[in-house]
Amino acid sequence: MAKRTIVALPGDGIGKVVLEETIRVLDAAGFKADYVEGDIGWEFWKTEGNPLPQRTLDLLEKHKIALFGAITSKPKDAAFAELSPKLQEKGLVYSSPIVGLRQHFGLDICMRPCRSYKGNPLNFIKRGIGDEIIEPMVDVVIFRQNTEGLYGGVEWSNPPEKVYEALMTHPKFVKNFSKTPKEELSVSTRIFTKKATERILRAAFEHAKKYGYKSVTVCEKPNVIRETSGMMYKMAQEIQKSDYPEIELWNTNIDAQMMWLTKNPDNYGVIVAGNMFGDIVSDGFAGLIGGLGFACSAQFNPDSGIGVFEPTHGSAPKYADFDVSIVNPIAMVESACMMLDFIDENEIATKIRKAVAKVIAEGKVQTYDMAKMSGKADVIEKGAASTQEMADAIIQSLK
Ligand code: NAI
Ligand code: MG
Repeated sequence: MAKRTIVALPGDGIGKVVLEETIRVLDAAGFKADYVEGDIGWEFWKTEGNPLPQRTLDLLEKHKIALFGAITSKPKDAAFAELSPKLQEKGLVYSSPIVGLRQHFGLDICMRPCRSYKGNPLNFIKRGIGDEIIEPMVDVVIFRQNTEGLYGGVEWSNPPEKVYEALMTHPKFVKNFSKTPKEELSVSTRIFTKKATERILRAAFEHAKKYGYKSVTVCEKPNVIRETSGMMYKMAQEIQKSDYPEIELWNTNIDAQMMWLTKNPDNYGVIVAGNMFGDIVSDGFAGLIGGLGFACSAQFNPDSGIGVFEPTHGSAPKYADFDVSIVNPIAMVESACMMLDFIDENEIATKIRKAVAKVIAEGKVQTYDMAKMSGKADVIEKGAASTQEMADAIIQSLK
């Protein structure tokens, strides 16, 4: 097996420890790689005025594959206040390095699998007929369009004259908003392109076909957001009809979906949505399988083969400085397994997933979240496993 170079982007807070422990698991599982560390996050904003330095983009351009921990983002005023004084006069504005990575490399496909592990004490349970306790086994993969829509950044407060004039050409704008002074208007656009919409839909159908999911659900709101959601659903109908007739196409509204996912979560297979609704529905499903300690993700560009693999949780600053780290590394380990799938190291991915499943099923080693403790430094004394002990247990189970 040729040795690969992986860009390690630890970022801030707990991103550092979960990435370090995950690399130990990868090594123990026999994945042969060199890791080069890339600079990203708050420290580089404070000292250089750029949380995503060009040298980091160059590293990823060269090596293509990155494992990413998490970063800290703060609101505009706090970001300015923490900027090094000599940079404060330069008029720099903080923007999220994750969003920056997505846009720079066109990482438009975001995949967020949510699968229940047998024996996870955090699994969602519900009551059936006669108060019977039911534990649905969730196996859902959310495909989120990652670069456009409401997170595309095309927005204004007190919009410029030309934008205002354009808005005034729309009868609904004239009727509902033209009496509001321009200075009191904030506008965020929701732009969908056919090209990106087709790419996320095809990625979703292809995944369903490859892994035997019976349905693809478009989770948008086409009855109200007629143009963007409407276009996505219409294109899904065409793609399904012409290329994937064996896969069922379902259509749910995001609001109803958030209710149904607790009623019948095991009904769903692949779900596909735009940027914001994909973000929302994936957090909803993540809650059913154990929450942030278990929620993993991949974002990639199928053309360039550039991919960034990361847990969906953030830097959890309140746990970052504990003498012994208590956070759950499983979301990061699972994200690394998605990386292995992406680079065709499926055997090692399967081996690690089996080891994680075994540790969870045995129930002897549980981080504080799994043990349902509140996150304080004393959880270790109370019997919770540290981040390192959880990684050790996974490594033991690999054997
Ligand atoms: P967060 O995800 O960092 O933490 C929220 C809470 O979830 C934690 O307090 C903890 O109770 C739990 N948690 C998170 N990861 C866990 C793990 N591995 N094991 C066990 N419990 C875990 O979100 P929060 O507190 O809203 O944001 C903190 C910082 O992270 C902010 O600066 C935010 O902007 C940033 N952030 C970064 C993301 C990224 O790097 N992709 C995503 C979300 C937030
Ligand atoms: Mg989110």
